[in-house]
Amino acid sequence: MLQNKRRYFLQFASLTLAALFLSLTIAIAAADTQSGEVLFQNQCAVCHGNEGAGGVGVPLNLHDFLSTTSNRYLHQTIKMGRPGRIMPAFHTLSETQIQSIIQYIRSWRPAVVIPEYSLDLIRGDAEKGQAVYDSTCANCHREKGIGGKGTGVTFSRPRDAELIAPAIGNPAFLAAASDQMIKHIIMTGRESTPMDSAMAMGLKEEDVDNVVTYLRSLAETDAQQQIKHSHRDDAVLVFESSYSIEETIENMKRASLGHNFRYVREQTLNHGFVEKEQESKDEYLIYFCNFNFLNRALLVDPRIGMFLPFRATIVKKEDTILVMTVNPDYLCSLFNNDELKQDCDYMSERYEAMLEESTF
Ligand code: HEC
Ligand code: HEC
Repeated sequence: MLQNKRRYFLQFASLTLAALFLSLTIAIAAADTQSGEVLFQNQCAVCHGNEGAGGVGVPLNLHDFLSTTSNRYLHQTIKMGRPGRIMPAFHTLSETQIQSIIQYIRSWRPAVVIPEYSLDLIRGDAEKGQAVYDSTCANCHREKGIGGKGTGVTFSRPRDAELIAPAIGNPAFLAAASDQMIKHIIMTGRESTPMDSAMAMGLKEEDVDNVVTYLRSLAETDAQQQIKHSHRDDAVLVFESSYSIEETIENMKRASLGHNFRYVREQTLNHGFVEKEQESKDEYLIYFCNFNFLNRALLVDPRIGMFLPFRATIVKKEDTILVMTVNPDYLCSLFNNDELKQDCDYMSERYEAMLEESTF
């Protein structure tokens, strides 16, 4: 009898403990999901859409995306980003924060089984894979998997497709995705996107193995270089002028013509903040624009509009005249968009030459 009572008590106690434990873990999970949602809204939604429907970034809330990607892949992608493809690397998010973002992304479609992949390498024939790639995939993912022009789904600019194919030769994609995962994605395709299944593209499993081997081979070649210029030079360019402020401004107006820039306007640095008589004649802002560049760059990446037209600050410090300006090349590198690179390199060269000419 006594023994029975004790047994009941023990059972009761362990049940209560279990219930307590369960409600605690549910509470923790709920808290995590919630903070994951907040983090997603703050860090990701601007590009991937509030509910992951896509934007500058690809849609994430797709059955075939969630059912073919592992948590490891999501984790690595958030950490490493996609150098040169706008998707930033989130170095500053903690492990717990990344986990709760993933948990939130998974909460969109709770019925989807999250796949795990073995890390077994696929050893196909890279050369045959390249042939398949060039004839079947390059049309959208472009040569060597550099990705389509532009990214994601919606943008008020002319585009080649409604959903732009991602950069699958990108070193960060290849580092995040295992061979088996890439294979599974190609076999499955993605419903409601231009990405068809292997079968619909007329490919046999062997072709897919060869393509995966080819993609893997890209990781070791020029893809590495894409990482390098994600950090370009100094943020600010400073020139010392051998002329007076007025002369320097006149020189800049003249030099701008020879470098395809148009002088826009100049003003004292504190113009609008103080009475006209109190404006300092020792500090000027001067604006320049190259409209061809502006129009071209806006089509590629509208965010460039935040920084254009370029401006230089001219200040007199004791007897020295300094011309300071944000380095256009550096600005462009912040956008993490390789498509801007060629235009930016050209612009930076011109810009530097113009400033040099007007200060020497
Ligand atoms: C008609 C255009 C098109 C073709 C052809 C095409 N893809 Fe895709 N592919 C896409 C798009 C668009 C996506 C992005 C889908 C999404 O957002 O979920 C994609 C996604 C992928 C992904 C997932 C990458 C990621 O970051 O999620 C892989 C891997 C891939 N494609 C490989 C291939 C391979 C290999 C071939 C050739 C055998 C191929 N694709 C052919 C358009 C295409
Ligand atoms: C500034 C825009 C931007 C932000 C912010 C951003 N992304 Fe992305 N993301 C992109 C773009 C663009 C791509 C596609 C890259 C390509 O086209 O090659 C991408 C791709 C991805 C992919 C791979 C998708 C696939 O099909 O394999 C994942 C996963 C992802 N982002 C998650 C996130 C998460 C989570 C956050 C927030 C922590 C985030 N992104 C923030 C722009 C962004």
